[in-house]
Amino acid sequence: HFVPALFTPDMLAGGTAVVIDVLRASTTVCHALHAGADRVVPCGSVEDARETAAALRAKGEAALLGGERMCVKVDGFDLGNSPVEYTAETVGGKPVVLTTTNGTAALFRCLEAREVLVGSFANLSALCERLAGGDGRVNLVCAGTDRNLTAEDALFAGRVANRLVEAGSGTLDHHDADPARLAATFATANPETAAVLHDSRGGRNLARLGRESDIEVCAAADSAPVVPRLTGDALRPVS
Ligand code: MLT
Repeated sequence: HFVPALFTPDMLAGGTAVVIDVLRASTTVCHALHAGADRVVPCGSVEDARETAAALRAKGEAALLGGERMCVKVDGFDLGNSPVEYTAETVGGKPVVLTTTNGTAALFRCLEAREVLVGSFANLSALCERLAGGDGRVNLVCAGTDRNLTAEDALFAGRVANRLVEAGSGTLDHHDADPARLAATFATANPETAAVLHDSRGGRNLARLGRESDIEVCAAADSAPVVPRLTGDALRPVS
């Protein structure tokens, strides 16, 4: 049986972990892979990202460096962390080395899981289909901000939980499922995704930086229908 659980990546072994950072890292990963990036290599630090990209370039790969600190592109990087930067023209066929403050860090907390996937509104339906066809426990791991839960990530987790329950492929009737029930209730009470994102901590932060249009992009459902999966050191679309 299949039990959507949430938030705490402390019971990952044997299950599927879905890493969620709606604003914006998990949306950006989906957009990059949907645009045809060869793979996304997550890195925990700016230094690690620079070294990883340099090593790939030394091997003849046209690696791009992407990511942010304080929501702003890192000095010397090719790309920031806005999904709209990751177009076919820019990333097609190339590896992207990505480091972000919360999103890529959350990925590294999930390495014990049997399978690590990435979720965002951009791949909501494709992800739910994949999860419905799987088995075992699903941990919907909300990256949040500075290890605090954020509304946009909880909203997405709740949408996934509701879809799985509606499809008959998940149950919240489990002693670990209280967080999932809370998220599901929140998602049912808030059908307007963009409104929640605008009003969230991450959304207000992006608005302050003049990146309101990113919020709309991150709220759009099924705009990048790929399911990124961590294989070795890189995220690639599940085929
Ligand atoms: C993060 O990983 O902390 C976020 O994606 C930050 C951002 O929106 O750039």
